[in-house]
Amino acid sequence: MTQTKNIVWHDSVVTKQDRSKQNNHQSPVLWFTGLSGSGKSTITVELEKALFEKGIRSYRLDGDNIRHGLNNNLGFSPEDRKENIRRIGEVAKLLNDAGLITLTAFISPYRQDRDNVRKLLADGEFIEVYVKCSLEKCEARDPKGLYQKARAGEIKGFTGIDAPYEEPEHPELVIDTENKPVDQAVAEIIAYLETRNYI
Ligand code: PPS
Repeated sequence: MTQTKNIVWHDSVVTKQDRSKQNNHQSPVLWFTGLSGSGKSTITVELEKALFEKGIRSYRLDGDNIRHGLNNNLGFSPEDRKENIRRIGEVAKLLNDAGLITLTAFISPYRQDRDNVRKLLADGEFIEVYVKCSLEKCEARDPKGLYQKARAGEIKGFTGIDAPYEEPEHPELVIDTENKPVDQAVAEIIAYLETRNYI
């Protein structure tokens, strides 16, 4: 239950539009979703670097990192994943208002949870990026050895093995990482942002 009784919103004098004008770019949230090992973190790290080099202000929120701090009380049950994504959605909304381009890298396996974040933001501010890679390929990569543990029954409720991943139905962008190199993925995303005048 939300607890907002007796809580009054306090507006800033400096607006998001002011910040956007000063930065000379918009502040959309690029929401990367996909299986573990699909390449979300790798792409967002390189994208953040490429944007930085262009003088564009962005910030990366990554599942593994956030679960060390803000969300270190959450596990991987459907309820905890929902709360994980809800909190990140709220953080992304703050960064959106702060004028930064946010790059989130969370499995975010449930369509409803991702759609809830979309609803938090104004039209055009939520860019869902489906990092598409088959389970077979992700499992073959297995960069952290987690698929192997999941197959051995040492991790329960692992996405793609014994927990669901709901593919996006209408993502703004699909990045096929099965064969595509990272620099090409980054170039495609930057072209998307430029064509639509986000940057
Ligand atoms: S979620 O589903 O969006 O809440 O997950 P997220 O916050 O992105 O965290 C995913 C990373 O946690 C590790 N991990 C697991 N993933 C999936 N299922 C289970 N049960 C699990 N346990 C630990 C895993 O390293 C994920 O990192 P990525 O970068 O996706 O590989």
